[in-house]
Amino acid sequence: MGERARIATQPRQVTSAQLIGVSPQMEELRQEIERVAASDAKILVTGESGVGKEVVAQTLHMLSARASRAFVAVNCGGLSETLLESELFGHVRGSFTGAYRDKPGKLEMANEGTVFLDEVGEMTLRMQGLLLRFLETGELQKVGADNGGRRVNVRVIAATNRHLRELIQQGTFREDLFYRLNVIHLEVPPLRERREDIPVLAEHFVRLFGDDRSCVVRHISGEAMKALSRYSWPGNVRQLVNVLERLAITVREPIVTIDDLPLEIRAVEAHGQQPKRERRRTVADDLYKRLVEDRESFWGCVYALYMDREITRGTMREVVRKGLEASHGNYRIVARMFNLESREYKRFLNFLRKHDCQLPFKEFRQ
Ligand SMILES: Nc1ncnc2c1ncn2[C@@H]1O[C@H](COP(=O)(O)OP(=O)(O)O)[C@@H](O)[C@H]1O
Ligand SMILES: [Mg+2]
Repeated sequence: MGERARIATQPRQVTSAQLIGVSPQMEELRQEIERVAASDAKILVTGESGVGKEVVAQTLHMLSARASRAFVAVNCGGLSETLLESELFGHVRGSFTGAYRDKPGKLEMANEGTVFLDEVGEMTLRMQGLLLRFLETGELQKVGADNGGRRVNVRVIAATNRHLRELIQQGTFREDLFYRLNVIHLEVPPLRERREDIPVLAEHFVRLFGDDRSCVVRHISGEAMKALSRYSWPGNVRQLVNVLERLAITVREPIVTIDDLPLEIRAVEAHGQQPKRERRRTVADDLYKRLVEDRESFWGCVYALYMDREITRGTMREVVRKGLEASHGNYRIVARMFNLESREYKRFLNFLRKHDCQLPFKEFRQ
């Protein structure tokens, strides 16, 4: 993933270490953050992907005595084990092919500051062991160095969208590491459980993207805002930001209206206003296009919407029917068209069977 050090003093794409939200849940989270920011205690931030875990970590850093020092984020899920080890701990010259000089690790770069270990649930067991040793001793063991290295003083904030207790049960996450990281636990709720935050977030990002001179969008109409507030946002705030960014680029009027919104967001609003059959058909068309043309994964898009009850079984069946039509009744090809790995094929069929969405393929064979 070529993850680079993201240091708080450097501007990032959308850096607002400003935690926006007016819901009681966000109010409470903000208070908890204020209570625990000053201490050096390790913090585990959990929540679905895109809820704002990194923003929470940045806010903790900004409110701590380390605010003037570095905030360094490491994505533990995006790198192979060897690269992650060198990324975190650094390496000495000659320790592997291509290691032409000594390189400091992120933990060293974060000295006296904060290190944010994102997607910590994705670490291999060996890496977990190395991290645990570091947390116990504070000593950096660089790749290729034969003696214990220098000590660093970093505050560790870890985050994951996984249920670590389940991973512990499965034997893929170390319980002792879990207790080390989980001294204080902050949970960021999904956006659909704090819908009051949607309008304030939407307005904030419209203003932000509106700063771009090529953008003419200034407001969101009341009706469009209602639709945004009703939608389930399986990708949480990240998805909201992406939708608004796209609108800021494509809409050529100052006000975003309901017709500008993507179909699946509009569809929640349109419920009961259009003939059912027709509405289903268009939503299914749109979802099918997202799978086949935009190459979104079935799990992330259609499945997530269905599990959140944003789309009906009828829509799900319609999407499957389209796949079967295009593949002449071959479920394996459908799975590939829907961007599933071959090892996920069984899970896909099981899901369809269980939810009565496995249409007979015979009528699609020629
Ligand atoms: N409460 C919030 N206030 C402002 N921006 C937010 C908030 N929550 C999330 N964001 C924005 O949403 C996007 C995803 O947030 P991020 O912290 O990366 O999520 P996570 O780490 O949980 O996947 C980022 O662009 C972030 O700036
Ligand atoms: Mg993240």
